[in-house]
Amino acid sequence: MKLTGQTVLITGAARRIGRALALHLARAGADILIHHGHSTKDAEQTAAEIRALGRKAWVLQADLEDLEQAARLVNQAWEVQPFQHLINNAAIFGSLDWAEVTPAEWQQTLNINLSAPFFLSQQFAKNLAGQPGRILNLLDWRALRPGADHLPYTISKAALAALTHSLALALAPHILVNGLALGAVLPPSDGGNANKILEDVPAKRWADLSEVGEAALFFLAGSNYITGEILHLDGGRHLV
Ligand SMILES: NC(=O)c1ccc[n+]([C@@H]2O[C@H](COP(=O)([O-])OP(=O)(O)OC[C@H]3O[C@@H](n4cnc5c(N)ncnc54)[C@H](OP(=O)(O)O)[C@@H]3O)[C@@H](O)[C@H]2O)c1
Repeated sequence: MKLTGQTVLITGAARRIGRALALHLARAGADILIHHGHSTKDAEQTAAEIRALGRKAWVLQADLEDLEQAARLVNQAWEVQPFQHLINNAAIFGSLDWAEVTPAEWQQTLNINLSAPFFLSQQFAKNLAGQPGRILNLLDWRALRPGADHLPYTISKAALAALTHSLALALAPHILVNGLALGAVLPPSDGGNANKILEDVPAKRWADLSEVGEAALFFLAGSNYITGEILHLDGGRHLV
């Protein structure tokens, strides 16, 4: 599957999974608009690697906790290069439980993980003005099985799953909206308990970043008859 001649805006694409997505899609022929928050040096490095592949890459900064900046990011990117695909990848992952979360932490998590993807999608759809486009939301296996752990994060992803379904209807027929629900891909930035995570993964291994890239490519370059779909790439974690 190829994305030659097409451009993708990926949020949080300087490091980790976002970076891997950017490189994978660039290898499939796409030019990449790399959004980042704080990781300017990493974003420039990712852009350099994409250009070395012979593709175009641009670096854009925005704090997605600020929802005005989220909508503005789409317009800034659009001025650089109109794009056909939006990947909502940026997120924060907090291990807060119900008893300790403060209103500020709750609001920050919902802003970055849920509201920013909505306002990015809203502005993207307006800019497309009826032309075809695709949106891919990065979810978590927890999204469709919300439990008590990581409470604000889990609820933000559950709501993002619902948003994926709602927008698939609202933006049809010209924009496809799908979700990729990940399991153990990379240990959390704060380290987490990497060994314990695998105990509950039927596949008994971490996902390879190339597997995440393949799944994203399928949603961006594959059938345009798939929308509102949420694919689990989690080694069976959501079944346990
Ligand atoms: N890692 C996993 O195994 C796993 C499992 C399940 C689901 N997921 C989902 O997959 C996606 C990527 O995961 P990841 O582990 O690679 O994510 P991550 O490293 O925790 O975060 C990705 C990026 O989000 C950006 N970000 C966070 N807050 C921001 C803000 N206020 N403004 C702008 N950017 C902000 C950061 O950019 P800067 O560094 O530039 O600030 C960060 O590099 C996420 O949606 C996550 O929920 C991941």
